[in-house]
Amino acid sequence: MLARALVLCCAVCASAALRVLLVFPLPGASHAILAEGFVTHLIRAGHQVTIITPIPSKNPSPNLRQVDVSANFQVSPLADVIQLEKIMTKEIDLTDLDFVKSMMNQIANATLSNPNVKRLMEDPRERFDVVIAEWLYTELYAGFASVFDCPLIWSSSMDPHAMVLWLIDEAPNPAYVADHLSDVHPPFDFWQRAKELWTVLRWMKLEWSARSVEDAIYNAGYGPAAAKRGLALAPLSVVKYNASLMLGNSHVSIGQPMRLPGNYKQILGYHVADKVQPLPVNLQKIMDEAKHGVIYFSMGSMLKSKTFPDVLKKELLQMFSGLKQTVLWKFEETPRKLPKNVHVVKWAPQQDILAHPNCVLFITHGGLLSLTETIHFGVPIIGIPMYGDQFLNTNRAVRKGFGKKVDLDWDFAKNLKAAIEEILGNPSYKEKVKEVPHLRSPALHVPFYQKMYVDLAAVVVLAFLAVVKTINFALKFWNRGGVKEKQR
Ligand SMILES: *[C@@H]1O[C@H](CO)[C@@H](O)[C@H](O)[C@H]1NC(C)=O
Ligand SMILES: *[C@@H]1O[C@H](CO)[C@@H](O)[C@H](O)[C@H]1NC(C)=O
Repeated sequence: MLARALVLCCAVCASAALRVLLVFPLPGASHAILAEGFVTHLIRAGHQVTIITPIPSKNPSPNLRQVDVSANFQVSPLADVIQLEKIMTKEIDLTDLDFVKSMMNQIANATLSNPNVKRLMEDPRERFDVVIAEWLYTELYAGFASVFDCPLIWSSSMDPHAMVLWLIDEAPNPAYVADHLSDVHPPFDFWQRAKELWTVLRWMKLEWSARSVEDAIYNAGYGPAAAKRGLALAPLSVVKYNASLMLGNSHVSIGQPMRLPGNYKQILGYHVADKVQPLPVNLQKIMDEAKHGVIYFSMGSMLKSKTFPDVLKKELLQMFSGLKQTVLWKFEETPRKLPKNVHVVKWAPQQDILAHPNCVLFITHGGLLSLTETIHFGVPIIGIPMYGDQFLNTNRAVRKGFGKKVDLDWDFAKNLKAAIEEILGNPSYKEKVKEVPHLRSPALHVPFYQKMYVDLAAVVVLAFLAVVKTINFALKFWNRGGVKEKQR
């Protein structure tokens, strides 16, 4: 009787505990933070987790197995790409999605060619109940679900947009939904609406022109493993649309209100720790003693502060020294002469710093994780966007009234000072960051003919007719000239 109960109990436990494969191979700390959120919640729920990660944790939980792809840092060193001076001089442009997509495909190729990943895929004893794969401008990781013959869940790290939504549903209507990289908000005027439509068409072309490279990487990467397992590998063009669910690091409080399909679940904030941890003793002291408050300055993990041009560093320190607030700067090197009110830390427990009641302002690159945390803890921001969705995130913070934007140029220190004075001198920023969401749909204010782009179609038709008429007229004129010539 007891034995039977035990067997039953084990069967129940075994069926409840899933073998989950997390595919998060991007060599960037913010992606690792999101992956860690998945690991934490899945392990806590009792599942067996295997993760493909470039940043393996030093002491993982017994239920976590790590497949090391740290070699991805060599293959496509994002850290080297993101150099401040190169962004300032426009030598590299990380809003150029052709470039970003090809970089992401190279990382995917490196991941699939990695011996650790190959071993996992080609061992037929390895089985999974579900694959959760991060989407970032490539769908190549969908192949893991094919190889392991299990359901696929996409994880998207940004606000929902055409390129992820058409994998599980359809592109949102560009007549009233801004693209994830567009700097506009509805209601759109005619040209904005036309431009948003154009953007969606551009993404379609981007997908289309990457097809052959992606197919090559997909077939070479997954083909051998599928063959070893005796499976026929379905083509990428089918598999990428076969996800059961998408988990999105998004929420209306920080993004835009929009209609979403039922298989898209918004889980923004899942990486924020349930409990604030005590600060390290030195930081606690600095923050407790800051009578006028603490300004926390961090440009995130991708951009290394040491790639700051020297002039800029000097100007910044000088500007900070004139403030009465304490400045806590996350920076990988300690400048030789530091003003009394400036403290440099190589590593910063960001959430715990933002949680401290004396934290009055966060100067950030405007990454989504940082904005999520700042909204969670109610700290206004100054955004210094550099790439990707940071522009949009920052502009939204500005529009929602809890932030200011400062451009990264040679007047940076001066403009930053003005922004700091504005935010700290005006309580409305602090109040707004504690309020936020607006749920009303922008679709309410867009007439049907605009949703259907009837006016744009009319303009195109009229322009076409005008061109035809002009040509006809010119031809007639020319012909008549010819006739006259003949008559003469
Ligand atoms: C993918 O990586 C392999 C091994 O490094 C290389 O031989 C192949 O050319 C790469 N494929 C593409 C499309 O870049
Ligand atoms: C699509 O997903 C379902 C559910 O996970 C699975 O049964 C099916 O085999 C998948 N189809 C392809 C072509 O991968």
